[in-house]
Amino acid sequence: MTPIQAPFPATRLRRLRRTAALRDLVQEHRLSVKDLIWPVFVTDVAGADVEVASMPGVARRTVEGAARAAEEAAGLGIPAICLFPYTDPALKTEGCEEAWNPENLSNRAVRAIKAAVPEIAVMTDVALDPYNSNGHDGLVRDGVILNDETVEALVRMALAQAEAGADILGPSDMMDGRIGAMRGALEGAGHKDVTILSYAAKYASAFYGPFRDAVGASGALKGDKKTYQMNPGNADEALRLVARDLAEGADMVMVKPGLPYLDICRAVKDAFGVPTFAYQVSGEYAMLKGAVLNGWMKEEVILESLMAFRRAGCDGVLTYFAPDVARILGR
Ligand code: PBG
Repeated sequence: MTPIQAPFPATRLRRLRRTAALRDLVQEHRLSVKDLIWPVFVTDVAGADVEVASMPGVARRTVEGAARAAEEAAGLGIPAICLFPYTDPALKTEGCEEAWNPENLSNRAVRAIKAAVPEIAVMTDVALDPYNSNGHDGLVRDGVILNDETVEALVRMALAQAEAGADILGPSDMMDGRIGAMRGALEGAGHKDVTILSYAAKYASAFYGPFRDAVGASGALKGDKKTYQMNPGNADEALRLVARDLAEGADMVMVKPGLPYLDICRAVKDAFGVPTFAYQVSGEYAMLKGAVLNGWMKEEVILESLMAFRRAGCDGVLTYFAPDVARILGR
């Protein structure tokens, strides 16, 4: 679309920027707390419910604390909360059995939240890394990440989460075939209304560093995740992955990380027109929060960074800033 434009001085683009009222009137995109999903870390390891060193302002919470966070979110108008467990290292195994324990930390937190704030949408993470003694998202044999065996484990995990009351399952593992397998199992078990927000285009990124500290996976991780997460040099592949996950029954798709991959967000939205999310990940949070806390940038950078996702066509964003945004917008 090429706007019809008279030459200067008939056209003076500053006319519409002259007052706040005019600027408001012609503003194209808006940020709303209603489009945010708040990721929250939970633990029941004694003493671990403290601030994460690489994520200032973000603390791990107990199950009870997660229920209080959900109450806080609901009070602030945040529609969804996403849980990530910091699992007791003693429960991590190579078989990752804790991942589908109906009474595991994440499942208990889902139930506690649903009991306290039934109206909030609870999202869970479907991947084995919090339960894996080697820190990988999949089962490992002789140094190889096993695809099909992992998908079977993920299906068990997804069913346990659905049973606990999760509204949105977030497979973040990047195995092939997991969306179709999960969707089939959910239908078969009567969980026909559980939604899947697929981490469809998830890149092998150094921006996840602080998250791995937060869930206690940094020390455990052997090697890297490049055989399953995407190469940052690829863009067309993201569209193939999104198409594949949609064809297998994903309701929503995600691009991750966020800001360094805005071109992918736009391409996905334009190509498919489906609910598209970005994850403003832990490293993005750490950069911005660190700069704000040091007084190097004003707090407005938080809103500005999130506005970028709206311009890029995202319907929503997972961000650790969700409560900060609610408070800033509420002022
Ligand atoms: C792992 C998982 C990761 C994140 C969400 N789920 C990290 C990884 O893939 O190593 C990252 C989130 C963040 O950095 O905020 N299943």
